Amino acid sequence: MNPTIENMLQHVSVRSFTDQPITPEQKESLIAAAQHGSTTEFVQAFSIIEITDQTLRNKLSDITISSPHVKKADTFYVFVADLHRQANILRANKQSLDSIKNMEALLLSTIDTTIAAQNMAVAAESMGLGICYIGSLRNNIAQVAKLLKLPDFTIPLFGMTVGVPSTKNQLKPRMAPSNQVATNSYNEDQFNDLSEYDQVVKDYYVNRKSNPADTSWTDKNLAIFKEVHRADVAAFLRKQGFSLD
Ligand SMILES: Cc1cc2nc3c(=O)[nH]c(=O)nc-3n(C[C@H](O)[C@H](O)[C@H](O)COP(=O)(O)O)c2cc1C
Repeated sequence: MNPTIENMLQHVSVRSFTDQPITPEQKESLIAAAQHGSTTEFVQAFSIIEITDQTLRNKLSDITISSPHVKKADTFYVFVADLHRQANILRANKQSLDSIKNMEALLLSTIDTTIAAQNMAVAAESMGLGICYIGSLRNNIAQVAKLLKLPDFTIPLFGMTVGVPSTKNQLKPRMAPSNQVATNSYNEDQFNDLSEYDQVVKDYYVNRKSNPADTSWTDKNLAIFKEVHRADVAAFLRKQGFSLD
């Protein structure tokens, strides 16, 4: 196994950071790594907004409710799925915006943005930094867009805190490859045979040092998905110009 993969297999989300700042060179590398990911047809449909203003950080942290580290992490980026440039190009050329309004364009920009973010995450961890994605910005996605002055055809998908870790959680055990990887077709039985994994996850939660809990992976997913979350996201996307068709 090479050092890149070794680092990837040590990934944990980091939610507490020391006061040690990230250097300007490190930040440059993080942005360069994010920008050099693969991107659909070279459209580069994302933007990254660094939040340095502490008042704005506090407001964004309050929106997340669950993520106070947004206030304190050395660096906080918001990853924006962004087809606004394409909208401007189409408008300048008096073309219809239909191609960027539809679901395919929405997926494309979401995918491009996520690839950029994960490139940044891998780069950060390779430098010994810790990261945590902040999807809970979408608790009030319209307010985040307003605070960041986002134009049409943009979506604040998630944030990412970056800093020097002060404490690290234990590694969360992933599914066995047989639960997620198949050849040639979907493997219904293998992918849903989760009893062993449920036990592994239960052991992890029962024994972990912070916030131990008697819960399996299935229990967790039931708790998450038995309720609809963030039902306002679709209305926000429509307001940003997407048709959702
Ligand atoms: C898109 C996305 C959004 C996330 N949002 C949050 C968040 O708002 N707050 C948080 O503390 N962790 C967040 N996480 C971190 C996940 O909870 C974490 O990755 C998961 O529990 C697995 O743990 P690990 O990253 O330590 O392996 C998010 C992760 C992803 C990929």
